[in-house]
Parts: sequence; C-alpha cells; structure tokens
Amino acid sequence: MKVDGKARRSIWVNADGWSVDVIDQTRLPFEFEVKNLQNLEQACAAIRDMVVRGAPLIGATAAYGCYLALREDPGDASLQGACAALLATRPTAVNLRWALDEMQRELGAIDPADRGRRAFELAARICEQDVETNRAIGRHGLDLIEKIAAEKDGAAVNILTHCNAGWLATVDWGTATAPMYMAQDAGIAVHVWVDETRPRNQGASLTAWELGHHGVPHSLVVDNVGGHLMQHGMVDLCLVGSDRTTRSGDVCNKIGTYLKALAAFDNAVPFYVCLPGSTIDWRIDDGLEQVPIEQRDGSEVSSIPGKSASGAIETVSITPQHTPVVNYAFDVTPARLVSGLITERGLVDADREALSSLFPEQATTPSAESG
Ligand code: MRU
Repeated sequence: MKVDGKARRSIWVNADGWSVDVIDQTRLPFEFEVKNLQNLEQACAAIRDMVVRGAPLIGATAAYGCYLALREDPGDASLQGACAALLATRPTAVNLRWALDEMQRELGAIDPADRGRRAFELAARICEQDVETNRAIGRHGLDLIEKIAAEKDGAAVNILTHCNAGWLATVDWGTATAPMYMAQDAGIAVHVWVDETRPRNQGASLTAWELGHHGVPHSLVVDNVGGHLMQHGMVDLCLVGSDRTTRSGDVCNKIGTYLKALAAFDNAVPFYVCLPGSTIDWRIDDGLEQVPIEQRDGSEVSSIPGKSASGAIETVSITPQHTPVVNYAFDVTPARLVSGLITERGLVDADREALSSLFPEQATTPSAESG
C-alpha cells in the first residue's frame, strides 16, 4: 500500500541484496522508522518485541530469520536451532509454525551448501504468496461489501474492525483491510469504526494510520463502544483477522474480538473473519482448549506510549505503581458466533466440513494429539 504516495510493504530485502528491512511498528504512528535485520537474533527480537506483528508478517519474518541463520551456518543444527528459536518468540499466531514447517520441509532434504540461497528464495516466495493471497481475500470480501452497499442506496457501508489486520500485519494489502481498500478504490462508500484495541492500541496507532494514508474514511472508537454502535444500527459489517483458526472454525484473534462477536450476534450484525489458509491450524478442533493464548508483560496495560504536547514520544503510567496486572493478548471466538470466513479461496462457513471441502488437501492432516 502507499505511504505518502510511495508504494510500501512491511518487509523487504535491503538494497545490499542480503539483509532484510522492516517497518518498526513500535514507532508508528508518530515516527516512520526502518529496522534492518542482519541475523537470527535480530529477527527473533523483532517478532518478540513486536517491531513486526500480525500473524502473516510474523510468518514472513520468521522465514527470513531462518534464511539469515543459514546464511551464516547452513548445517542441520543451525537449521533446527533457528527454527526452534523463532518458534519460541510468540506462541499464538500459527503462521509462525506454518512458515517454519515450509522452510524445514524444503531445506531439510537439500545439500547444506544450497540452503542459504534456497532459503532466501523461499522467504521471498512466502512474501509474494502473501500479497496474492490478500488480494484474493480482498476480492471475495469486496463482493460482500458490494451486496451491502446495494441495499444502502449509496450511503456508506459502516464496517467495524478490531486490532490491525492491515497491510502492516501482512506483507501487503492486509486481510480484514483488503476488502476495505478495494471498496475504496472501486468508489464504494465505506466508513470504518476502528477499535483502539487496548492495551497496545494496534487500532489507534496502526489501522488509523494505514486507513488515513489510503484516504479511507474512519473513526477511532474505544473498545467498549462497538456494542452500543451495533444496538443503534451504526454497524453493517464486522471484519476482523485471525491469528489461528481451528479446522472447525473457532477463531483466535486479538483480545476483545470475542466480545465484538457476541455483540454482533446479539444484534444480527454479520461478523466475518478474513484469513489466509496458512492461518488455519488443521491439527486442532477446539479453540478454547487447544489454542495457546499469549500472556504479555503487565507494563503494556499499566502504561501507555504516546506523543506529548511538546512532541516528545513518551510512555506514561495509568495506574498506581505495583498494581497487579494480567495481560492476555488473544481470545477465541467460537465458530457459532462467526458468520463466515473470507479466505483466498472464497467465503466459507466456519465449520469443519465446509473448510475441508474448500481445502481438501488438508482433510487428512493428523490432529495434534495423534500428530
Ligand atoms: O499482537 P498482534 O498485534 O500480533 O495481534 C495481531 C492480530 O490479532 C491480528 O488481528 C491478526 O494477527 C491477523 S493479522 C492479518
């Protein structure tokens, strides 16, 4: 997507032809900084510290992290060690495991001497695939928006989104944002309610920044207002992303998504989840029992970064010192609350039969307990 008129992706190969650049998302929206990754440790830190975040981008960064490790040492131990270190960075987004499985499957069997070059090509392929996948998700989601727009006689289609499932969370286009960008580009009136998404404010700091740069009308709202908006008919559609969706359609996404799904269900507002096939964990059924939910440091809740009146970027405390804090980063929305899943292969019901028929090659994936 564009930043100040210049086409941008969230990750790319540096002009030196070997190291990897990423947008430092911890500095947005006030500073646009590029971080250069030159080795495995830096790639792991970028994921752990959320310099890069969002399930598909975490996967793409892990693929490049694996390449950077093999560039230094292409041996078997290096490959295993790199994948283990990357997998340990964050537990919930399954694209991390997906990307590392891809790398190990393709690199494990080849001559170590070829691994560095091959890993570089594979990481680039994962990035190109991501862009094409999100474009396809965008087209399928656009159909949904067009149907609602047709009923609204030219009035804007009001879409509520939670967290940032935008181009910053992927390589380009985003998942939940791709239909919004395509509707905007097609001249269909849309307006996006952007949940601030405490505690790290991915909505306020990243989604609002992205939509602003693409000229998509939007309003920032606190996380607790969505239900009220739905009760008053001010939301036509919810579009969110996912970090891990089970083969039975249970959806894990940023904390607070479940509450939005409950409000949508109670007010008959369509609640769609946009995700690539690589975000479906074909080994598990029960999201509540089987998806590992990340818990992050309490300081993310007890303090908040922002720009002061003097223009300084500062972090301030919002609670008395030593207040005990619990910080769950994700929750699970049961399939029964999901109107549908928007994938690169099309819209599908959030259930096992429908998903298996859309992804028949995955129907025989062994489940985790027997895997
Ligand atoms: O903690 P984050 O910022 O990595 O969480 C991101 C989300 O929950 C996104 O909605 C999800 O990864 C989908 S990104 C296309």
